[in-house]
Amino acid sequence: MELLINNKKYTVEPHQDESLLSVLRHQLDLTGSKYGCGEGACGACTVLINGTAVRSCMTKAESAAGKNITTIEGLEKNGKLHPVQQAFLKVDVFQCSYCASGMIMSAVSLLEKNPKPSTQDIMRSMQGNICRCGTHPRIVKAIQEASK
Ligand code: FES
Repeated sequence: MELLINNKKYTVEPHQDESLLSVLRHQLDLTGSKYGCGEGACGACTVLINGTAVRSCMTKAESAAGKNITTIEGLEKNGKLHPVQQAFLKVDVFQCSYCASGMIMSAVSLLEKNPKPSTQDIMRSMQGNICRCGTHPRIVKAIQEASK
């Protein structure tokens, strides 16, 4: 089976019902997407499928065939970080950073759909991404920064 990830084709052999997250991490060594809860509740595993943020732990790899998958590894272009990544660094968002990849992917998806989100839009959109260090105020600030 082929998967299109970050504009590159990969041939993979998922086990029955294997999640996209598992294939990314264990078959392709794309380890930027993290395993947090494994049940769709934390957002650490968020990737984009056709531009929409999805929980890769809850997405069967097979169902992603023929779709355009973007992981955190695919955001950098020509050696330059994505504006959302730059904003997260500028605001010095992270502490332990385990949630970082999922947060950034959700923020990218939000800004692609809504380039000028209100604070409420940001909070609503990011509520499925959990940060146990409690950096949410800085995450909101970074998304506002990226939307300027
Ligand atoms: Fe997928 Fe928590 S690991 S939502």
